[in-house]
Amino acid sequence: MIEVRDGAFLLQTRTTSYWFALTQHGHLEHLHYGPWLPAQDPSALRVKRTIESGASVVYSPDDTSYGLDAIPLEYSGIGQGDYRLSPVEVHTAHGADLDLVYRDHRVLAGTVPSGGLPTADGGPGVQTLEVVLADERAGLELVLLYTVFPDIDVITRRAVLRNRGGSVAEIAKLASFQLDLPDRGYTIRTFDGGWIHEAHAHDRPVSSGVFSTGSTTGASSARHNPGTLLFAAGADENHGWAYGFNLVYSGNHETSFERDQHGSVRVMAGIHPQAFRWPLGPGEEFETPEAVLAFSAEGLGGLSDRMHRFVRAHITPAAQRDVPRPVVYNSWEAAFFDIDEKRLAKYANQAAKLGVELFVIDDGWFAGRTDDTRALGDYAVDAKKFPNGLKPLVERIAKLGMRTGIWVEPEMVSEDSELYRAHPDWALRVPGKPAREGRHQQLLDLCNPAVRDHIVEQVGSLIDDNGFSYVKWDMNRHMADAYSPHVAHPGMTAHAFQLGLYEVLDRIFGPRPHVLLEMCSSGGNRFDLGMLRWAAMIWTSDDTDPIERLDIQQGTSYLYPQSVISAHVSASPHQQTLRDTPLSTRFNVAAFGCLGYEYDLDFLTPEEKREIVEQIAFYKEHRELLQFGRFRRIPSGRRGRVIWQVGEGDAAIVGNFQRGVRAAPERDLLPVAGLHPGVVYRVDAKPQRIMLDRLGALVNHVSPVRLDPNGLVMNVVSKRRSLPDGVEGYTGTGELLAAGIRLEMQFSGTGHNEALRMLGDFGSTLYTVVREDSL
Ligand code: GLA
Repeated sequence: MIEVRDGAFLLQTRTTSYWFALTQHGHLEHLHYGPWLPAQDPSALRVKRTIESGASVVYSPDDTSYGLDAIPLEYSGIGQGDYRLSPVEVHTAHGADLDLVYRDHRVLAGTVPSGGLPTADGGPGVQTLEVVLADERAGLELVLLYTVFPDIDVITRRAVLRNRGGSVAEIAKLASFQLDLPDRGYTIRTFDGGWIHEAHAHDRPVSSGVFSTGSTTGASSARHNPGTLLFAAGADENHGWAYGFNLVYSGNHETSFERDQHGSVRVMAGIHPQAFRWPLGPGEEFETPEAVLAFSAEGLGGLSDRMHRFVRAHITPAAQRDVPRPVVYNSWEAAFFDIDEKRLAKYANQAAKLGVELFVIDDGWFAGRTDDTRALGDYAVDAKKFPNGLKPLVERIAKLGMRTGIWVEPEMVSEDSELYRAHPDWALRVPGKPAREGRHQQLLDLCNPAVRDHIVEQVGSLIDDNGFSYVKWDMNRHMADAYSPHVAHPGMTAHAFQLGLYEVLDRIFGPRPHVLLEMCSSGGNRFDLGMLRWAAMIWTSDDTDPIERLDIQQGTSYLYPQSVISAHVSASPHQQTLRDTPLSTRFNVAAFGCLGYEYDLDFLTPEEKREIVEQIAFYKEHRELLQFGRFRRIPSGRRGRVIWQVGEGDAAIVGNFQRGVRAAPERDLLPVAGLHPGVVYRVDAKPQRIMLDRLGALVNHVSPVRLDPNGLVMNVVSKRRSLPDGVEGYTGTGELLAAGIRLEMQFSGTGHNEALRMLGDFGSTLYTVVREDSL
């Protein structure tokens, strides 16, 4: 709900309030963003000023205590005495001087759509406040848009700059939002990394000066995700004040946090200003990406829940939003470029038997694509590998009861390709400079309408001609040669590229809402809310080692729900780390996302097949909970131990993961959160298998005959026999389970029985929690 009274603007959600008010000089003073407050006289929240601050610049000679440097503002300008970082820099005949004062406002039902950028969908009770600020002298008008999502406790913000003057104004910076908060001993959490180590959480205290994080790679990038958190002293997973910020954008971005001399913290985020220029002609306007803001007084867990619900209900494509994501088989880690009809048909037969629902043909299917040095841009089927085209394979897969998906990388071109030979000018290229390649490829110039038309036609007909119901859209290099002759200023290229990409996605997938789009960028190099407006899920990382994934998926979970986190089980030792992990753990981690397998199915042992069949059946049975249930990171209190929970109320699933074993392991406690008090629940470990070769010579303690651990017999037996693992069951009320179950002992070198938990290094267990009266 939005209430405007006596120059004060109060934005209310179910549990939060956002409040700002006009000052007597027409600036917008920020009053409060935090727990819900009833409407009232806001004077107590205003910054107090009765005397002029030393060394300050006063705004007006007849009001000497009015210095903008000390006032929390909704959106600052330049040159008026506020010396904190400004969200805006626009060059006009008056230089960058800008004084933004209130002109007008209106409250609208629903959201305000953008003219080319992705924005969140509306829903029940959603309203938008539009506040117009202006600087008459500069001939500029700035519209601040606040959209309130009351049920989900989220507010989105963006800004639109209009040139009302008679000459060109050049934008050098325009942040999506600014938020000035009183300092509460904040910590900033960012999610950083790179290829195969995305989304690792890093904390640092807010202290004097500016901390900034962002991307200048042309994409949102895995270096620093656009989503960040800010939490007050004392806050943890379940308690305390926590803010979350994100951008519905996939290009260069920057978020900065500045603590000033008065103990105020200024947060802002938007398009990264480095090398950015946008000339705005008279009568033109420029809009920023939409920023997402959330607050929770229930710590980081509460904050994640709000962000998850927001992404699920307002960001992911409407037609796919509530549709359970299928269990996928992907050919990449199984065969890389070495695929053909025979090999894939064989995998398809095997995958269908395991319970897979969607079969994905990854890279390597089109003519000339024998490795990553060539052929990007030419999406004609390789007639040697697929003499009958792809259609017969798609039909065969359909007969097996599965859908088929295809890999493409449409934003790129290899120099060794028909497309490049025909249109060398279609690649982004700085005149006179040799191309800087990444993975032997160049970016197509999506600022060029002819390139956009080509991609739309190419990918559209690929989907239609073969009946694909899924596309894995990849993007494997960063932008380096950011120059396009199709924009008015080179500084527009990176952002215009994004607008071009969004237009292309709209034109391809808008008319084909049934097609499930999975975004990928060398793994999670473009994991952002912009992509999620078209993609129902994103390939989280090329790292499929489950122990690495504990960090990657946990980092991602702060701002993105499990239903968009694509997670696959692959062969061990892992291609990325050489770490050897149990098949059970590979599944147990991937189950907290959209499950898939990337495996050479020819080499599965009968015992592994049996386990995978059971894993997929378990996943399908609990898919609603696993993909859409409330996610919690349960503090384990112990290094190396990770506990995740999905679901609450009537049913939940809890995963308990051990990174490394210690001799004589401590006794483990498993708390289950969010259950009904007084209701009795049954908790059972999901049955899984421990493969005999994991036991080595210890096998002789359980085997009736003596086996050589390195011998042929052992080799044969371990492919066909395994030990049951995870034979545990408990009961208790919601309160008891919240206090924590004391789990069965772990193996500690003194013997073996079925109840012992055989975790070892990288071991894990999933527990199902159901109301006993539902059994
Ligand atoms: C990227 C992706 C992989 C795979 C390859 C194919 O690395 O992240 O999943 O699709 O490209 O070349």
